[in-house]
Amino acid sequence: MRALLVAGLVLVLAHSVCAQVEAQRTLMPMPASVHAGNGELVIDRNFRVSVNGNDPVVERGIRRFLQQLSLETGMMFAEKSGASTPVTLQIQCDHGSEKIQKLGDDESYVLGVTSTAAKLTAPTPLGVLHGLETMLQMARVGTKGFAIPAVTIQDQPRFAWRGLLIDVGRHFIPLEVLKRNLDAMAAAKMNVLHWHLYDNEGFRIESKRFPKLQAEGSDGQYYTQQEIRDFVEFAHDRGIRIVPEFEMPGHSRSMFVGYPELGSGPGPYQVTPGAPDAAIDPTRDETYKFLDKFLDEMTKLFPDEYVHIGGDEVNGHEWDTNPKIQAFMHAHGMKNNQDLQAYFNQKVQTILSKHHKIMIGWDEVLHPDLPKTVVVQSWRGQDSLATAAQQGYRGLLSFGYYLDLMWPASRHYAVEPMSGRAALLSAEEKSRILGGESCMWSEWITPENIDSRIWPRNAAVAERLWSPAEVQDTNSMYARMDAFSWRLQWLGMKHRSALESGLSRMAGAGDMEALRNLAEVIEPVKDYERMDKLKGVWDFRAPLVRMADVVRPESEQARRFHDAVETYLKSGAKDRVAENQIRTTLVTWRDNDAKLRPQLDHSFLLQELGPLSADLSMLGSSGLFALDYLERFAPSPALWRTQQSPMLDSAATAKADLLLMVVGPIRQLIDASGGGGKTMGTTQP
Ligand code: ACM
Repeated sequence: MRALLVAGLVLVLAHSVCAQVEAQRTLMPMPASVHAGNGELVIDRNFRVSVNGNDPVVERGIRRFLQQLSLETGMMFAEKSGASTPVTLQIQCDHGSEKIQKLGDDESYVLGVTSTAAKLTAPTPLGVLHGLETMLQMARVGTKGFAIPAVTIQDQPRFAWRGLLIDVGRHFIPLEVLKRNLDAMAAAKMNVLHWHLYDNEGFRIESKRFPKLQAEGSDGQYYTQQEIRDFVEFAHDRGIRIVPEFEMPGHSRSMFVGYPELGSGPGPYQVTPGAPDAAIDPTRDETYKFLDKFLDEMTKLFPDEYVHIGGDEVNGHEWDTNPKIQAFMHAHGMKNNQDLQAYFNQKVQTILSKHHKIMIGWDEVLHPDLPKTVVVQSWRGQDSLATAAQQGYRGLLSFGYYLDLMWPASRHYAVEPMSGRAALLSAEEKSRILGGESCMWSEWITPENIDSRIWPRNAAVAERLWSPAEVQDTNSMYARMDAFSWRLQWLGMKHRSALESGLSRMAGAGDMEALRNLAEVIEPVKDYERMDKLKGVWDFRAPLVRMADVVRPESEQARRFHDAVETYLKSGAKDRVAENQIRTTLVTWRDNDAKLRPQLDHSFLLQELGPLSADLSMLGSSGLFALDYLERFAPSPALWRTQQSPMLDSAATAKADLLLMVVGPIRQLIDASGGGGKTMGTTQP
């Protein structure tokens, strides 16, 4: 069945990209300008790289490039060009690398590939790194080994800030997992890791001045200072800035376990599921003495100019119920908790400024008392971005880029930073919109499933932030994202393979085909439904090994099936390749429940999937019934179609925190079968 699905996909792809330049088929993010040349550059054992100068970042970048190329081609390459062998890739970089990468550094490059040689020129090592990634993305199997199509690419990012937030507070993520995600970010030309270093559930960074922060505020899982320094270097080598977030005054209960005097309540505090909200006490001088020392220590670990202070979701309950805080607010003429938080933010901003750092906060921090240097990150809606820009603040967009909401890549892809009110801004105001960040909040994340929650969907956000605004074709994006997804797997990402290991754990030993058939067409529920539906307390210590934790956020199989049904119906039920593909798939689904049932009945973790498995079989049967009518160009009985409706509605509802993703195309087949072949396809009248 898979071979057929893949064959069908290749046909669909071949059709959708025939107008594109060959080189563009696998590029993601799409470069600013691509011009096809003639022929291709063959990559064989004689492939040699030369570079001017000996910048360490460039040298290590070339080494990784050659290692990656070796893995993909099976060839060994000499690291340096010898006198006797001609150079295949000549790299020219105008300036050496800076010790500290800055916002707005030149990241442009020009890559020219002919049938005899390639030349990569860039003002800075950042451009060289991006150009090498572009070159890797174009390498493909050719008749003479590997080859890169002849092409001229001129490229630079649309936005200077292209970030990914990873939350390690709710669930600790080991450095090796973060490192491979940095490699993936570099492949997608993202340049900021926003590191949400702690939250109510855990404090994840070693403080030597305040060791009770990590000792009492975590389960022992935190990063040492030496590890942090190494990690920052690792990122710098890949053209990625690390922007740390020290969340305050809310979302910081883990700080108060060891230092309860920081909190606004009576304490004691604990890192336990369901513990009430807590917030820093902004009225005490000692609070700021602590934060000054804490931030002095922390900011020395992170060379980046920017530091995030969080500032979101302060519900103020602890402030409302503390008489001393109420008296302070009264004495200072503060009308509400926003005023108190603004007071706090100003003090923190002054501290950060003293430590030569620029403050970023979530959109709640937007307040006229703050200096215009502050950067505002919009998460509650896109409007705050325009509002901030109008008021003179710089901003970042994250609303619409929340990867934890389990949206399809296409939905993130459609979120345009310059749309809505931002489209009406003056040029100067627009220039204050620095870019955006996707967000991987970790309520339902483990080291095992995090790659699959970030990738490949994050590549769609990366492209939105790098490529020209006109690059919008969703079919092209998906085709290129599929290619990119495999490349990431070769880089060591586990976003594809984690499904297999998760399924095998649930199923125990034995054949997994039937379970895989089901798993490949279901997705976790969307938005915050999983959290909202929790009856009891969210227990962050629970092992996240249910099907909803294992299946991919966006089903490739469902998307392909949907495409096949579209193709088939648009052809007026005449496309036999599409029909065969659909039929084979439907038969597999129809027969799947009987095969899977014994496994479901014998596994504690799989039992909850019974209703979904039954639904999939019913969908397969109904789809086949409809397909038979379509094939014969005979209208299906109206009564039968009416009877399918409740079954389809039921199959479309969430079960076990999962959604079956093929109800839509089955409904299309059933609806179209009523027309006897006359009114088919969504584009026909
Ligand atoms: C946030 O999602 N509370 C920034």
